[in-house]
Amino acid sequence: MNSGFNLRNDVPVGNTMRVNACADQFLQIDHIERALANPRLREEWLADPQTLVVGGGSNILFVTDRIDKAVAIKAADHGFVDEGETVLVFAEAGLGLDDWVRLTAEQGLYGLERLAEIPGTVGAAPIQNVGAYGMQLSDVLDSVELWDRQKQAPLRWSAEQCQLSYRNSRFKSEPNRWLVLRVWVRLHKRPPADWPNFAYPGLVDEAEAYSKSEKKPISSLVASDMAEIVTRVRRKKLPDWRQWLPGSLGSFFHNPIVSKQHANKLKANWPDVPLYALDDPDSVKLSAGWLIEQAGWRGRLFGAAGVYDRHALVLINRGGADGKQLLQLAEAIEADVWKHFAVRLKTEPMIV
Ligand code: EPU
Repeated sequence: MNSGFNLRNDVPVGNTMRVNACADQFLQIDHIERALANPRLREEWLADPQTLVVGGGSNILFVTDRIDKAVAIKAADHGFVDEGETVLVFAEAGLGLDDWVRLTAEQGLYGLERLAEIPGTVGAAPIQNVGAYGMQLSDVLDSVELWDRQKQAPLRWSAEQCQLSYRNSRFKSEPNRWLVLRVWVRLHKRPPADWPNFAYPGLVDEAEAYSKSEKKPISSLVASDMAEIVTRVRRKKLPDWRQWLPGSLGSFFHNPIVSKQHANKLKANWPDVPLYALDDPDSVKLSAGWLIEQAGWRGRLFGAAGVYDRHALVLINRGGADGKQLLQLAEAIEADVWKHFAVRLKTEPMIV
């Protein structure tokens, strides 16, 4: 029986920003249980907090060109447990999130379809609670199977234990401790009561165009149609991560959350500022893209690095930019947004 993993030296670690970094040693896990049965892998690799866990590289900016040890799960099995009205579906960490979304939508299951066309792996999805077009992973998450790198033991956390919130989770507050092995979501055989919900601006126009071109009335749209509509909206706003260039990491900053009082001040000076209500009545979410655009950064280029002209929240590499240049650009944007609006931006990708 093979070991379930393979080890190589000098492996370039792929990332959608297309900024090079090379791992001196690279461990690829092809079969989770078999690999974890190996004491050397558990002790020398996973228990070492310096070992960098990588997924699809769509949320990582390298400012170094060498990494000592990196590990990636490539195991990508998936399956389900039928529970009547709902289906519990799992995928291993190495499956592409977009592949999983399309697979479940094509099986007629509702719940993941708005996460179509997001780059990255299933394993990375709970770390930052990926979300788009009115949903987040936390809306459907059932549980996550993990490896505790410190205690060298497997465990399974319920969705509550993962403490997911907007672009955040318990995994983020305890870095280098947890390795996501499998993600379980609860999907529905029937559409939700408010289906199709076009609450997100832009979806309704795309849905109408889609319904016309496909000759399908809006009322007959199913999960896989929604995945396609979301895909079309994303392609208009964001660089296509399947293409080599421009490199990008999607949103480079979180949408900042400020006090109601601060939001009122902004509104008084900039009546058009988009404000998004939160469950907490004392806080308001702002649109980082709007702030960056208003500060004059949208579409600006600095050699090979720049701000995408179709979306100010996206930093791009047009080929040859390095991590430090991109980080400097991000810092200049942060400082300028602070100067204009007294709002602190927080970077979304992990900087290594
Ligand atoms: N806006 C501008 N200028 C811009 C971009 C945006 O003024 O250049 C303003 C517009 O008012 C627009 C609003 O910002 O209506 C919101 O923009 P958008 O709908 O594109 O969403 P976002 O808040 O910028 C978030 C996520 C995206 C996700 C979209 C759609 C974050 C950090 N980003 O972006 O996620 O796809 O909503 O749900 O929350 C990602 O995380 O990588 C990502 C792409």
